[in-house]
This record gives sequence, C-alpha cells and structure tokens, in this order.
Amino acid sequence: MTGTKKILVTGGAGFIGSHTVIALAKAGYTPVILDNFCNSHRWIVPEIEALAGQSLACYEADCTNEKQLAKVFDEEGPFEGVIHFAALKAVGESVNEPLKYYRNNIDGLLCVLEQMNRTKTNRLVFSSSCTIYGLPDVVPITETESLKEPQSPYGATKLMGEQIVKSVVEKGAELKAVLLRYFNPIGAHESGRIGEFPMGVPNNLVPYVTQTAAGWREAITINGSDYDTPDGTCIRDYIHVTDLAEAHVQSLKWFDKGESLGIFNLGTGKGSSVTEVIETFEKALGVKINKIVGPRRSGDVPAIWANADKAEKELNWKARLTLEDALKDAWSWQKNIENRKT
Ligand code: NAD
Ligand code: UFG
Repeated sequence: MTGTKKILVTGGAGFIGSHTVIALAKAGYTPVILDNFCNSHRWIVPEIEALAGQSLACYEADCTNEKQLAKVFDEEGPFEGVIHFAALKAVGESVNEPLKYYRNNIDGLLCVLEQMNRTKTNRLVFSSSCTIYGLPDVVPITETESLKEPQSPYGATKLMGEQIVKSVVEKGAELKAVLLRYFNPIGAHESGRIGEFPMGVPNNLVPYVTQTAAGWREAITINGSDYDTPDGTCIRDYIHVTDLAEAHVQSLKWFDKGESLGIFNLGTGKGSSVTEVIETFEKALGVKINKIVGPRRSGDVPAIWANADKAEKELNWKARLTLEDALKDAWSWQKNIENRKT
C-alpha cells in the first residue's frame, strides 16, 4: 500500500539512504529521493524502486543549490519531514580538501533548514556520527558523554551540524529534530541488490574485506595490531544497514510524542575487533583472504562501541541482525557488482 505521508530523503540514493527509502515505503510513507549522485549511481534508483515495490519520485539536485532545493520542496511538498543524509563522508579526503567538506556538508544543511523554515516543514532527522565522541573516556559510550575536538574536517561538519540543528530547535522556528549518531554501518540489503559502492579504493574495513575476497584487491592491511585491546586490533560497533534504516522510521514516529529534540546512539552495543570481523567473514563464507599487518592508521581510536539503551527505550528500536548477517549480505552485494567496477 502506498502511504500518503511524504518524506524528503536527501542523499536517498546513497548507502544508508537507499535502505531507508525502502524501509519508509514498507512502513507506509512516501519517500521522495533527492541526490546529486556525487557518491552514488543512477542505476541504483530502479533497484530501490523494485525493492520498495513502488515507483518513486527522484530528483537529481544539490542540497547546496537553493534553487534546485526550493523546486523540490515546491513541486513535492508539503513534506511531513526531512531525513538529511546528503553529505560527503571520506575522513581522509576531508583532511586534504576541507573547504569542499565544509561547503557541502554545512551549506547543504543550512539550505535544507532554510527550505524547511520557508515551507513550514518542521521534522528533521539528521545523520550524525560516533566520530563526534573522539577518543572516548569510557565504553560503551552513552549520549551524555562529552563531545571532543573533531579529528578531521568531516568530523567537524558532524559536530557543527548537530550544533546548528540544536540552535534552530532551541531558538528558531518550529523545528523538531532527531540527531542520530551512527556507529559503523555495514552490510547490504538481503537481496544483494543494493549496498555500499565505494568510489575507488575503499577506506572502510568491510568493503575492503569483500573486495579482497573477490580478488579486486590483493590483501587487506590490518591497520595496527599493537593496540591495548584483547587481540591488539581496533574495536568498533558494526551495525547492519537494514537495522539502521529501521531506526529512521522509528525516529519519524518519535516526533508524535511531542518532544522537540532527540539524540540517539545507533549501534548494536557490541564491539568487534578488526581481526574478529575478518575471521567472522572467513568462517561465514568459507573463504580465506590474504591479510598483512601494517602500521596504525592516524586518527583511529583504539575502541568504541555504543550504549544504545536510549534508542531501545525511546525509539522502540534495537539492532536485530548480527555481524555475520551483515558480512554475508555485504558479500552477496559484492558478487552482484562484479561487473560494475567503476
Ligand atoms: P553515501 O555517500 O553512500 O550517501 C550520501 C549520498 O548523498 C550520496 O548518494 C551522495 O551522492 C549524496 N550527496 C552528497 N552531497 C550531496 C549534496 N550536496 N546534494 C545532494 N546529494 C548529495 O553515504 P552514507 O554512508 O549513506 O552516509 C549517509 C549519511 O550518514 C552521511 O551524512 C554520512 O556522513 C553519515 N554517516 C555515515 C557513516 C558511514 O560509515 N557510512 C557513519 C556515520 C555517519
Ligand atoms: N581498517 C583496517 N584495514 C582497512 C580498513 C580499515 O584495518 O583496510 C580498520 C581501521 O583502521 C579501523 C577499523 O578497521 O580500526 C574500522 O575502520 P573503518 O574505516 O571501517 O571505520 P571507522 O571507524 O574508521 O569510521 C567509520 C566511517 C566514518 C564514521 C565512523 C563512525 O568511515 O565516516 O565510522 O560512524 F564517522
């Protein structure tokens, strides 16, 4: 059944956005995709439509372009809410090209907020990140933990993004917002038809693992094995993108409680080391991948994982899928894109 509640999904063709669009459609919302395809492919849109079981409005537009954005709000609005995923996310690139990151991520958010204000759209879900916790003093980490000096311009855009949204909620118009602090999203849709398609050599662990298993890369380099962790490699909280997508649906429902600002960690509550991820993949798929131990990667925190109790209590959301589920789905996706090496 097609819903009537329209949600604008910026970055809706991207990794998390595409899975969220499907979850929204299944939950009876009408998602409208807006993307400039700077980090996604146009061919993903029909795949999303097939999985959502409906055709979808999709606009090629840039969030930093006021005119293009206003056109989408005017043609498709009024929206019940906006989920703002659109951002650049490569940490290393952001160090080398800071202006590009500040312009895209901050300007994009400001333009979206201005259009929301103009059209009296007052529900925003914003994609934040656990990078804003920096080097944590305690793990698992809760939402009340102090935020740290960002390690990269990318991290700075997420921290500033949270601050901008909070200011508008506190002193601006009628805005209500949910800030979602994602831990490490991985995996793909269970069909293997949509997933993460990193441009060029992947930075992140799981795409590197699947591309190595597929023979696209010779070996995975483990970035340091001398950390103060049980096996010496870094620990993260890897969350299946399908679970993450569901949290956005729950966030939209949360607005009905009448509160104006919600901040939630989205993780599984369990940390896994780099070695555990690689071994779980090898065991689940019955393959061996080449690995070498390299030096530490600068900026990596040794260990961080979420306390996600608040999301369970207030969003009625909990991660359900396992690391193994996510790695199997990431592998199905990898096999699906064998012929699309671009
Ligand atoms: P992604 O790159 O796959 O998706 C982002 C989408 O936004 C892409 O399709 C890209 O083309 C689009 N986009 C970027 N700038 C745009 C602009 N100015 N106008 C219109 N479209 C634009 O990334 P993702 O992994 O799906 O991440 C989604 C959000 O979650 C981002 O805000 C990211 O910073 C945040 N986040 C991601 C992770 C992660 O590890 N994947 C972790 C924490 C937070
Ligand atoms: N790693 C390797 N080898 C690789 C790639 C990664 O050993 O080839 C290690 C990293 O050094 C790190 C761990 O695997 O110890 C996880 O690294 P990722 O790059 O997959 O993830 P990060 O925790 O560094 O960061 C990711 C996103 C950020 C986001 C953050 C928190 O890249 O954008 O999660 O959500 F902010």
